[in-house]
Amino acid sequence: MYMAIFFIVQSLILVKHVSSFSTPSLSNFQGTINYYRRFSPSAHYVSDGDDTEIDTNDYSYEINDEDIESSMEQNEKIRFRARAAYDGSGFRGWQVQAKGRTCQGELENVLSTRFNRTVKIVGAGRTDASVHARGQAFHFDVYCNEIVTKGNIDESLSNTQNFCKQLQKSLNSMLKDDIRIYNVMECPPPVEVTHQDGSVRTHKWHVIYNSEKKLYVYRISLRPKAVAVDPLERYRRVHMDGDIDPHNLQRILRHYEGTHDFRAFSGAIEANMKKDGVEHKDTVRTVYSCDLIDEGEGNYRIEIYLKGALYKMVRNMVGTAIDVAKGRFDEEKMLVMLHQKKEEQLVRKDNKCKPAPGEGLTLEKVYFEDDGFLF
Ligand SMILES: *[C@@H]1O[C@H](CO)[C@@H](O)[C@H](O)[C@H]1NC(C)=O
Repeated sequence: MYMAIFFIVQSLILVKHVSSFSTPSLSNFQGTINYYRRFSPSAHYVSDGDDTEIDTNDYSYEINDEDIESSMEQNEKIRFRARAAYDGSGFRGWQVQAKGRTCQGELENVLSTRFNRTVKIVGAGRTDASVHARGQAFHFDVYCNEIVTKGNIDESLSNTQNFCKQLQKSLNSMLKDDIRIYNVMECPPPVEVTHQDGSVRTHKWHVIYNSEKKLYVYRISLRPKAVAVDPLERYRRVHMDGDIDPHNLQRILRHYEGTHDFRAFSGAIEANMKKDGVEHKDTVRTVYSCDLIDEGEGNYRIEIYLKGALYKMVRNMVGTAIDVAKGRFDEEKMLVMLHQKKEEQLVRKDNKCKPAPGEGLTLEKVYFEDDGFLF
């Protein structure tokens, strides 16, 4: 009997969660809606966009002349996009590295096997080692003559849709089961973009530049130590030791909302600037909302909607807020770092708080202007 009630309550909670995810309510943005700019390619496209996790320009936005030329060639490349979900525990992060298993690496491997050539992908967000994703997004290019189907096809779908369906199935069959792709589809067509200097260029749909916002979720437990984290959740939820009042934590998290200079909350900025020979890096980012959600039984999740994050920014935000909530770091100092003026130059070194561990973090979804129910 008690079990039955327990399950009913559980499933009600589940339904509530599912529905809050499927309708990422815009009410979250009320009050901060002015930060939210709709993508309008012909009006003002931010072509120098740097509002991603990617500091080092790994995925420099290669447009333009090449794309335009290639579209005149016989064997045009068509851009496709897909979602990826992965359990970050077995990966050294998203981005390809010299050594170790990475999400980008695995996906490029199976695509390259499938097409019998080197295929590169571009991801919307670079997640760190142990960080999970449910709604990561990436794009890649396929030559026209590679868009072929074989065997049983669904007559109600177009040739390209059948191709996507078969491609998705074949790639997933080659991947280990801690990573899956879904919603493989052709990207929206290229658009003409008027740049600030007045020139008009053709831009292909781009997973970084066309993304509008991201939802990151950090899962924590504030239970007493003896029952800290359910062992079944140990790779996705982190126990935060110490006496933390959830209401106080929520109040502290609110400090992040709005547009701030997150220089003191992002790793390796100085090192990367040096490496790239860059004098100045824009570290101003916008956080639309930062909420603490009670999941019951001492479990909470921190939901962060933002435009784009700097390297390790989300983990540093969580780590710092937790330390302030514990009384281990001065709240005034946190506010000074968030509201610093350019000349103050407070950097990561000035923030003594450790980043929260990677396993608690999930990139839940990358949002695009046209995703709707399709992507
Ligand atoms: C794959 O490409 C290589 C050349 O790069 C070629 O020799 C080989 O026949 C191709 N394999 C298939 C199955 O098409």
